[in-house]
Amino acid sequence: MKYSDINVFCCPECRSSLRFLEINQQDKNSEVLEGLISCVNCNSTYPIIKSIPRFVSRDNYASSFGYQWKKFSRTQFGGNQKQIAKVRFDATTKWPDNLKGQLILEAGCGAGRFTEIALDTGAEVYSFDLSDAVEAGMANIKSLELKMRHHLFQADIYKIPLPYEMFDKIFCFGVLQHCPDVKKAYLSLAPFLKRERELVVDCYLGQPLKDIFKLKYLLRPFFKWWRPSWLFAFCSIMISVTYDIKSSFAKIPMVGKLISRLIPIGRLNYEPDYYFSVPEIKEIKTLSMFDMLSPKYDQPQRISSFRLWMQGAGLEILELTTGYNGINARGRRP
Ligand SMILES: C[S@@+](CC[C@H](N)C(=O)[O-])C[C@H]1O[C@@H](n2cnc3c(N)ncnc32)[C@H](O)[C@@H]1O
Ligand SMILES: [Zn+2]
Repeated sequence: MKYSDINVFCCPECRSSLRFLEINQQDKNSEVLEGLISCVNCNSTYPIIKSIPRFVSRDNYASSFGYQWKKFSRTQFGGNQKQIAKVRFDATTKWPDNLKGQLILEAGCGAGRFTEIALDTGAEVYSFDLSDAVEAGMANIKSLELKMRHHLFQADIYKIPLPYEMFDKIFCFGVLQHCPDVKKAYLSLAPFLKRERELVVDCYLGQPLKDIFKLKYLLRPFFKWWRPSWLFAFCSIMISVTYDIKSSFAKIPMVGKLISRLIPIGRLNYEPDYYFSVPEIKEIKTLSMFDMLSPKYDQPQRISSFRLWMQGAGLEILELTTGYNGINARGRRP
């Protein structure tokens, strides 16, 4: 945690100022590596562990995500993956490449694939996640220049420990559908925007008639209770075996492609757009299967709900459409 951030963060419980109670280690870049923060008003305390202030308890509903992003900490980084993240970020936010001098808030950063893209704009980025995926997020920002502009913390979207009206831009990708109360999660973000600035989110699109037949929703009630390590082992084996079977089927002349479609693990490769080796594709698909089956909450939404929520939050609707990951909603505070 940056030493000076003690003056920026506030108590998630009562929103009062914070102070250092203990500073156990501090490195030469003015990072507090371990320590304890306390609220000046309600005396709640928050530990700093591995350089990250933790404003939530360790046990929470997002622990499967902590496991996921530590296990697959590099799967969505580097080369093609960075390109894929950048294309999605640009298409969804429509923000310019240069945001130097601006303050961005990222809600639900996971392992931080979009954090890196946001930092590349030159902005100062505050990112948080409910799970200890933040540890993967910390390790994934490697360059010192980016680290200097990155402020990472573990917190809950419902109780963000930062001042209202602090940010020029806020984004939240892949998160809202995994929150217990999606509307409340969305509405919790808007107060942190400065006036005339933008909040961009995405969320799974609900299609009730289709969703009830989706394999994922048929299987989730059973698998979401599994211990993450067991589910990970199960997904790894399933993907590896079914991928090999699907590849073999695809090679049968004439009918092969048709038969291989019966195995519901998506495309065998992503060419001509992107090339991945077979081990890479298996890893990507294992992550994707784990990500579908493990979250405690998976609640797709309707566009009409977002329209109401955006209006309720007093946001001007810049764009409300379907795009990457389902619904894409861009709003501006008037
Ligand atoms: C599917 S991951 C997306 C991560 C990242 N945005 C990405 O697209 O790579 C969803 C993330 O939302 C986080 N999350 C879920 N509920 C949250 C909450 N109440 N507050 C903050 N983060 C939350 C999870 O811990 C998880 O890392
Ligand atoms: Zn307090």
